[in-house]
Amino acid sequence: MSRSITLTLKIWRQTGPEAPGRFETHRIGPISTDLSFLEMLDVLNEELTLAGKTPVAFDHDCREGICGMCGAVVNGEPHGPQPATTLCQLHLRHFKDRQTIVIEPFRARAFPIVRDLVVDRTSLDAILISGGYISVNTGGAPEANSIPVPAARAEQALDAAQCIGCGACVAACPNAAAMLFAAAKVSHLALLPQGEPERTSRVRTMVAAMDGAGFGNCTNVGACAAACPKQISLANIARLNREFLRAALAPEDGG
Ligand code: SF4
Ligand code: FES
Repeated sequence: MSRSITLTLKIWRQTGPEAPGRFETHRIGPISTDLSFLEMLDVLNEELTLAGKTPVAFDHDCREGICGMCGAVVNGEPHGPQPATTLCQLHLRHFKDRQTIVIEPFRARAFPIVRDLVVDRTSLDAILISGGYISVNTGGAPEANSIPVPAARAEQALDAAQCIGCGACVAACPNAAAMLFAAAKVSHLALLPQGEPERTSRVRTMVAAMDGAGFGNCTNVGACAAACPKQISLANIARLNREFLRAALAPEDGG
């Protein structure tokens, strides 16, 4: 049921990557709990703009939970308190009247702050570019029943392919590791016949790109999977480790 609430927002403000940051406090409301978290920030920004102040910079695009652009740490949790929910899909009905909400950017060495809540996540792109592709020409869509992929395997691949590259796993990890992201990308292609030609080189290059981009090492804490809005499973990290071991034992020019 729709209600109106008043909130105190403590928002991280930082004018640039090297500038010192600080929390800024704003009261907002009464505001409808039907609004999404990002719509609340829109309302705040309108108020700031009308008052001649600088609006809060935050990332967003689809606002439908599919593009991976949005993201901030809300009361200590990447994407906020609702499991399996991106920040753009989080609604104010999950907050209490007069609650204080602390909003910070994703913090990781590999994600330098651009401004306020916006961080540079091109380090994830570097991992993807290094091996997240296939070279085979898959042609037109074949008749569904002729695709030689067991249903269970196809399901696992599609589950891994749900990763939207938001980076919440990195922000949640005490080591700021990108293992869950890399594991999702390696898994979804390693599980399908179309990914077979680059199977060995892919895991080598993606792990090297991950190491080179300044991410930390995975120590199996599991905070990544708990924070992931797409519920990417830790089983993918186990698969990445198996794929990496397989590649390490393969000849140097193994595909
Ligand atoms: S694994 Fe989950 S948290 Fe990490 S980038 Fe992909 S969707 Fe986001
Ligand atoms: S804005 Fe696209 S996933 Fe949130």
